[in-house]
Amino acid sequence: MNHQSDNSSPEQPAADDALAAATDASDAYTVSARAAAILLVFALLATAMMAMVYRATQAPIAASTAQERLRRINEVLAPAEYDNDLLRDALSIPPEPALGLASGSEVLRARARGQPVALIFEAIAPDGYGGAIRLLVGVRADGRLSGVRVLEHKETPGLGDYIDPARDRRRARPWIEQFVGTSHAELGDAGFRVRKDGGQFDAVTGATVTARAVTVAVGRAAAWAHAHRAELFAASLSGTERP
Ligand SMILES: Cc1cc2nc3c(=O)[nH]c(=O)nc-3n(C[C@H](O)[C@H](O)[C@H](O)COP(=O)(O)O)c2cc1C
Repeated sequence: MNHQSDNSSPEQPAADDALAAATDASDAYTVSARAAAILLVFALLATAMMAMVYRATQAPIAASTAQERLRRINEVLAPAEYDNDLLRDALSIPPEPALGLASGSEVLRARARGQPVALIFEAIAPDGYGGAIRLLVGVRADGRLSGVRVLEHKETPGLGDYIDPARDRRRARPWIEQFVGTSHAELGDAGFRVRKDGGQFDAVTGATVTARAVTVAVGRAAAWAHAHRAELFAASLSGTERP
């Protein structure tokens, strides 16, 4: 009598198939898990490398940004005129309509042996030919302008861009230099206009719109700095209060 089990029962192929399928699924799962683990390791390595690169470049980028800022500042006030760390003597101010600023900004205070020398800040002329013109303005403690530079503009190249001394053909005395030494106390609003409008400042014929916008904005900025100079020089660094 044969008691051997019958391997070829009708259920067996199905069981084999199920076992094979389970083995395949398990293999597939192992492969997927390994791939996922490898991906995770690469993702972690890439993230760690990015973090390292960010940390390594953060300080040099900050240093070069500060250097570039100082370069622009030095164009409106000579470094020999002050002895403090200007960039650290920066007073935060809220949006100031007189400066054409829709958002908060900073006023840098230049001092020599602790005495006020000049205030340096941004102002915007909203009505250039091509739109807003961003300016950097320096106003001395006595209210006279120490310098003005254009930080950003969209004036027409070769026509309205003479406001940037790098683009101005008058190398000996660029147009923007005519503000140096003038004061709002002396000229008033009426003086801070282009000659065509009865003021004291030249414009380039055929491109008066640009000069008009910059001149009026510089006059407003000079008036604002002179009116608030005492509070601006005295305000503590933590203050974000309106001067
Ligand atoms: C294509 C084009 C671009 C111009 N770009 C400027 C510009 O950047 N700045 C400017 O003041 N005037 C620009 N003008 C000229 C002004 O429309 C305007 O005529 C001029 O500023 C007036 O100056 P004026 O009173 O000295 O003639 C441009 C004109 C044209 C047609």
